[in-house]
Amino acid sequence: MALQTIEHVAAWRQTLDARRAAGQRVGLVPTMGALHAGHMSLIRRAAGDCDVVAVTDYVNPLQFGPTEDLASYPRDIERDGRIAAEAGAELLFAPPPGEMWPKPPMTSVQVSGLSEPMEGASRPGHFDGVATIVAKLLALSGPCWAYFGEKDFQQLAVIRQMVSDLSLPVAVMGCPVVRDADGLALSSRNAYLNQTERALAPNLYYALLAGKRAVEDDGETDPGAVTDAMAVSLEKHPEFGLDYAAVVDPLDLTRPVRIHGEVRLCIAARLGRARLIDNVPATPPDN
Ligand code: PAJ
Repeated sequence: MALQTIEHVAAWRQTLDARRAAGQRVGLVPTMGALHAGHMSLIRRAAGDCDVVAVTDYVNPLQFGPTEDLASYPRDIERDGRIAAEAGAELLFAPPPGEMWPKPPMTSVQVSGLSEPMEGASRPGHFDGVATIVAKLLALSGPCWAYFGEKDFQQLAVIRQMVSDLSLPVAVMGCPVVRDADGLALSSRNAYLNQTERALAPNLYYALLAGKRAVEDDGETDPGAVTDAMAVSLEKHPEFGLDYAAVVDPLDLTRPVRIHGEVRLCIAARLGRARLIDNVPATPPDN
């Protein structure tokens, strides 16, 4: 499908308004570019549900900490355009630096509670940056169905809450994690791994599976024992620096005292230059 790339905020708004006026349902897929098969799964899903798929491609400085990888984050708009079109996108929003925030914004959107544990504790201010840019992208894009990956499970929860709290005219659609054949969750940041690290990287997923087995096969109901199983599994590979292993309620991300009903197992670790995150659902046998 031919792809139209739009750089300016006014043109983006007008284009999507015109599509809606013509009776089309808009599917929105916000990304930071460096597109891979995970992003493509969101675009394909949106193409199945909607009449037009609009992808946004913007590396948002607000969600990077001062010592993080904003400068080195991979950028290649032309390649992204080809991949987005192949997956079924018709519109690509690629604002050049300065277009989104000609002056630093004075407004910040903060979703309290959900933004605080896990990624929020490790990356102070990260979710304020995410919520602020997503609120702006949704405001520019207008009523739509917006697709986000469960790969960033906490981000999805933060965005759902923001859309609900602010009554934004958006249906938030969560999509499952896409993995490589060896289990590694696809991520733009996997590009930072060298060959040795890439071979080790699926052990992050295997640590989650160790936790999942504890819940589902052994009937473990103590969240501490489950996070221990995840940590012990990852410790076999000292190249990883574990950041956190957590058992959380899938809706409000609180830590259950006992596991009854579905939980989400979440993990984050450093490996070489990369910081990797992943998660899986786990359901105890009596459910
Ligand atoms: P980015 O990391 O580019 O991810 C864009 C979308 O793709 C997110 O919803 C993310 O969860 C999803 N995604 C990434 N890897 C995936 C995988 N392996 N399987 C399924 N979905 C996957 O997330 C962001 O950008 C930004 O924070 C953004 C929401 C665009 C705001 O700047």
